[in-house]
Amino acid sequence: MSSVIIVGAQWGDEGKGKITDLLARDADMVVRYQGGNNAGHTVVVGSDTFKLHLIPSGILYADKQCIIGNGVVIDPEVLLAELDSLRARGISVDNLRISERAHVIMPYHRVLDQLEEASREAKIGTTGRGIGPCYVDKVARTGIRIGELVEPELLKSRLQEILPAKNRLLRGVYQHEGFALEHILNTCLPLAERLKPLVGDTTALVNQAVAQGAKIIFEGAQGTLLDIDHGTYPFVTSSSASSGGAAIGAGVPVTKLNNVLGVAKAYCTRVGEGPFPTELKDALGERIRERGREFGTTTGRPRRCGWLDAVALKYSTEVNGLTGLALTLLDVLDGFETVKICVGYKYKGKVLERMPAQAHVLGECIPVYRELPGWPEGSTRQASCFDDLPVQAQDYIKFIEDFTGVPIVLVSVGPARNQTFQRAPIL
Ligand code: GDP
Ligand code: IMO
Ligand code: MG
Repeated sequence: MSSVIIVGAQWGDEGKGKITDLLARDADMVVRYQGGNNAGHTVVVGSDTFKLHLIPSGILYADKQCIIGNGVVIDPEVLLAELDSLRARGISVDNLRISERAHVIMPYHRVLDQLEEASREAKIGTTGRGIGPCYVDKVARTGIRIGELVEPELLKSRLQEILPAKNRLLRGVYQHEGFALEHILNTCLPLAERLKPLVGDTTALVNQAVAQGAKIIFEGAQGTLLDIDHGTYPFVTSSSASSGGAAIGAGVPVTKLNNVLGVAKAYCTRVGEGPFPTELKDALGERIRERGREFGTTTGRPRRCGWLDAVALKYSTEVNGLTGLALTLLDVLDGFETVKICVGYKYKGKVLERMPAQAHVLGECIPVYRELPGWPEGSTRQASCFDDLPVQAQDYIKFIEDFTGVPIVLVSVGPARNQTFQRAPIL
């Protein structure tokens, strides 16, 4: 089997959607393995732009099997709206299957996400989509799975068990009116009926494909620095966004997974709160935001922008076992006189070479930069191979490869499919 895990190497929005769509051309199957509709993956095809939140970015090819794996949390209303909008644009969604083991984002999860965030002193800046509370219920064993959602009697009995405690929490702690069982059933059952034909044992499908030697892409959402274990906790999402999440979230054995492609921007962005040592709160940051159109795909929030953090990228390399890097949005750095890369952190008079585990320590770190010449006159946008790039951009790439020890096997210089070149086989 030839498979590749596509993982965000930073704080999300690295261009995973674009890279997945691109590589899907040569794949048989694309599997989303974690996260929910907190994700927003953009795919640009000619003059059409698709913003995918739950559906794998292989869906634009009618002959690729797309799977929403057990590790994903699904808001049925959002998924159906996404399916409808794709169908309305002439995209076939017949090739999509949903794991019966995936958890359902219920109406009370969305409400709880927003109430919890509002009451938090140190904000996380969640997307408010119910992601955290849904994963909390999964781990607490009070979640509802898609396989239960599509069986009306089962759903009713599970809700009878779960809802009273949810209402005690909503009413007692947040003075919210709570949810009536009938109301939830009336909302969920028509949605469930529409989803039911797509639901099944995707673990079997994925493992059959593995056994047949199919080419499979495991599409991650969010990024390593937002991973529940390896990210800048507590300013993280609630799932395993790093490569290890693929085995768990797709139901495929770790022994079958060997290639991991980390997607990283040529600089850094972050949406929401949390430490971000290289953040630029000045005109330079604004320039990156404008050139990179750095506004959230899901929430529209302006993304925080800053220089590339190579220390964080090296950490990401280690945690994910990256076998290659895809460097995206390189074109955004066109026109800069110089470009900076963070190669260490100054903390309390010492220089740290590794990313610290504690968010408050990272928050106090001052980046140590290596300044490289930019390419103020040159443009990367038309490059179709490494040698087409301005020599300073080539040096920038080589520096990142040397520092992280990972080859940059793919370079993206614009949102379109053809604004990309590959330097080594990936799938
Ligand atoms: P994802 O969540 O990792 O899939 O990334 P998003 O789709 O949220 O954000 C990436 C944004 O950058 C999208 O608007 C893409 O269309 C755009 N994009 C991807 N690659 C490039 C690139 O190389 N250059 C430019 N200028 N834009 C890109
Ligand atoms: P993609 O897949 C960027 C961030 C939120 C917030 C934190 C927790 O498009 O790269 P959550 O709603 O998940 O509980 O919010 O995580 N976040 C993302 N940031 N890209 C994403 O997804 C994100 N998904 C969640 O902004 O800081
Ligand atoms: Mg995104």
